Amino acid sequence: MKHSRGVFVPAVVVAMAGFALIFHAWFGVSRQGLPGIKPGDRGNEELFKTLGTIAVWSTALSYAWLRVKRKRKSPSPLVKKLVKLFDKAHRLAGYAAIVLIAVHGLYFLTQARIKDDTYTGIAGFALLLSLGVYGFLIRRVKNKHLRKIHFLLATVFAVVAVIHAGGSAIIAILSTIVFWGLVWLIERRVAQSTENRAA
Ligand code: HEM
Repeated sequence: MKHSRGVFVPAVVVAMAGFALIFHAWFGVSRQGLPGIKPGDRGNEELFKTLGTIAVWSTALSYAWLRVKRKRKSPSPLVKKLVKLFDKAHRLAGYAAIVLIAVHGLYFLTQARIKDDTYTGIAGFALLLSLGVYGFLIRRVKNKHLRKIHFLLATVFAVVAVIHAGGSAIIAILSTIVFWGLVWLIERRVAQSTENRAA
């Protein structure tokens, strides 16, 4: 079990199903609409879109952990504090995103017209859910591939999030990169001032 590559299979299946859904959204017959729901019926759409946007930011916060977790031995006390904060926030934000998207998705699946976004959204949710399951298993099952699959699915999810959510996902990804840059700058300055003091 420790080295079994079989753990890749569910991740590959979910990723392929996700791409099939995106393919269907772009090229398939996906505009049939839901009976009984008029095109103008927008209801509480804005509220449920906002839940989706909050989920996008939660996943970005969770993804930011990727570079922060390597800084446990940082020379900067601030970065060390961030490591502790992100250690907990990473999981919390991930689970929060799953709950928020379940509510967001359920609304658009049952209360709105079926459109392209519906299929790309299902693909995103399937990836989010499965990467969450792999993440949950990392500390519970001994298999060296789980962490890598969790990371790969998170990266594929980021691409699908851009396809589905557009601008808000792009801004969230750019903000994550800027955040990583700031952490790097803080560390560099602390390391330089320590060197100067020692010289
Ligand atoms: C079962 C899963 C999902 C379904 C059925 C679904 C459905 C939809 C639909 C139909 C829209 C378009 C609303 C409109 O413009 O009229 C939408 C928007 C949105 N979704 Fe999802 N979605 C799902 C999962 C996700 C996931 C995983 C994310 C996070 C990446 C997400 C984030 C968003 C955001 C931020 C918007 C608003 C985009 C904008 O303001 O233009 N959704 N969703």
